[in-house]
Amino acid sequence: SNLQLRHVEGVVTVAAPPHAKGVTLGEPLSSDDALDPHHLRLVVPSHQFSQNALIPSPDKYLEMYKRSIEDPAGFWSDIASQFFWKQPWNAYSVFSENLDVRNGPVHIQWFKGGSTNISYNCLDRIVESGYGDKIALFWEANDPGVGATSLTYNQLLSRVCQLANYLKHIGVKKGDAVVVYLPMLMELPITMLACARIGAVHSVVFAGFSAESLAQRIVDCKPKVVITCNAVKRGSKTIHLKDIVDGALLQSAQNGDVVPKYPTHCEVEWVDAEDPLFLLYTSGSTGKPKGVLHTTGGYMVYTATTFKYAFDYKPTDIYWCTADCGWITGHSYVTYGPLLNGASVIIYEGAPNYPDSGRCWDIVDKYKYVTRYSRESLRILGSVGEPINPSAWRWFYNVVGDSRCPISDTWWQTETGGFMITPLPGAWPQKPGSATFPFFGVQPVIVDEKGVELEGECSGYLCVKNSWPGAFRTLYGDHERYETTYFKPFPGYYFTGDGCSRDKDGYHWLTGRVDDVINVSGHRIGTAEVESALVSHPKCAEAAVVGVEHEVKGQAIYAFVTLVEGVPYSEELRKSLVLTVREQIGAFAAPDRIHWAPGLPKTRSGKIMRRILRKIASRQLNELGDTSTLADPSIVDQLIALADS
Ligand code: WT7
Repeated sequence: SNLQLRHVEGVVTVAAPPHAKGVTLGEPLSSDDALDPHHLRLVVPSHQFSQNALIPSPDKYLEMYKRSIEDPAGFWSDIASQFFWKQPWNAYSVFSENLDVRNGPVHIQWFKGGSTNISYNCLDRIVESGYGDKIALFWEANDPGVGATSLTYNQLLSRVCQLANYLKHIGVKKGDAVVVYLPMLMELPITMLACARIGAVHSVVFAGFSAESLAQRIVDCKPKVVITCNAVKRGSKTIHLKDIVDGALLQSAQNGDVVPKYPTHCEVEWVDAEDPLFLLYTSGSTGKPKGVLHTTGGYMVYTATTFKYAFDYKPTDIYWCTADCGWITGHSYVTYGPLLNGASVIIYEGAPNYPDSGRCWDIVDKYKYVTRYSRESLRILGSVGEPINPSAWRWFYNVVGDSRCPISDTWWQTETGGFMITPLPGAWPQKPGSATFPFFGVQPVIVDEKGVELEGECSGYLCVKNSWPGAFRTLYGDHERYETTYFKPFPGYYFTGDGCSRDKDGYHWLTGRVDDVINVSGHRIGTAEVESALVSHPKCAEAAVVGVEHEVKGQAIYAFVTLVEGVPYSEELRKSLVLTVREQIGAFAAPDRIHWAPGLPKTRSGKIMRRILRKIASRQLNELGDTSTLADPSIVDQLIALADS
């Protein structure tokens, strides 16, 4: 287990063990590991853990990885055959792709011609293989000890069919969009599965979004129906979702709503592997959210496989992912990935710190599988959404996992459908803060600003060289933006928008976004979205938003605001600006700091120099760089003078 992995030219090779000190799982990491600048300290899976793991060694990983790169068609076909297909896919073209804009439109297809249904594969297939009485979903309510409930695979299937019949009855057909605006109730995955069952395309909108954001998404995808509930409890608050939807429907001039009793059997609609499964809006570097489109077959195969290996899934596991189904993690790793594996999944309605910060561990103990001791039921921990810093990693490992559980720090994106760079917990040693190595079939490359692939120890822009089954196929209604954003910056590659470095042992270290996207507690927010919300305020003339480092949230939103001529700054106005952002996007996007700006640093052509604003926001005033190209360099001094006022 001390073998090291090295990633060279897209092929992983085994290198001689480095001179690193190893810590075997089971030993706590001391705080002086934090001082280890070269990340030499490895956390090695115990022999017993590895022995029982699906991927027990670097060699096994390398063997499978090598095949996945050299023979992707064979590798993925073998896995895909484990699912139910009404019609097989075209065996002579398991996938086809053009990722190089210079050779024509970007185009990705997997398992084309195959017909299947992901809802059937999540439910009917599990029931038919004899697991109908296994618990599919445990639901834990916001208030401890109140209303917890569960559904077996049989019961879940019936509930999904009822809703599918209802949707058909009100005229929803294959290919129609359905917007789902629900909190973490069992009805949320039920709705997703019901849509998939009849071939409708779900678009879940996170229930923390405001009426305006919801309206924007409704206008873009033009759903036949919007599904919501009256209200949700989150922490001590009750949020009236239906009122928000009414507001949104007013804004988008549509109508609809109700969910009664319908028959518990519903024939599935067989769809092509490349028929759309869902749209999920995500933030980019311009104001308009992007409708990321995922299709059926490849997404199904990819989420199921990544779930299985990254969490070393065992049928006796009880699995809990704290993400909300309003985000991609909730799509791939609350709903589809686990259910495709026949797993028992916990869904939690509320906030992780309600009634207090012990709630998560309360839930872990409550749903423990066999053992009776606190957190002893934990086997594997997961982390996602932002770089986990080594000290948070250590806390997670030592305190939560009792220095016993491997951590799968999974790097991926809404666009990638599933995990891309992730530990396989039994296969190789971990380094606190590194997402480690690529998943099967994924060829990450790090390029410099000219798009030249860097080798060995390096740092640059993270791209991906080929396609993988879970890749998104387009941005809804805007294939041109899809190409411009992801495939034009570095022709021939998919560009992730992230910075990344690779150390001498081949481990990957994600360093955060390199574009105008901010990551606040794992919520992805475009600076332009917050700016347009701010400037919609009648007293705001101009706004520029940057991200600043934040100890708890990863990044916080910092807004420079120029007011309309003659309007004085006041605390009341600051509050009203923040409120505007909350109303237009949602509370999670509210700026932490408003910095009054008499003017913004702009180039002579009028482009805001965000580089300078970032330095001012993080008070790195010695690193402002060259300001002489600004139209008015004195603005910088004025901003600095106002920094702490
Ligand atoms: C961005 C994607 C993927 C589900 C949740 C977020 C950042 C994601 C990690 C990680 C470092 C990470 C990246 C990425 N990110 N996972 N393990 N380590 N950074 O999905 O909203 O599409 O955001 O989240 O910056 O580009 P998303």
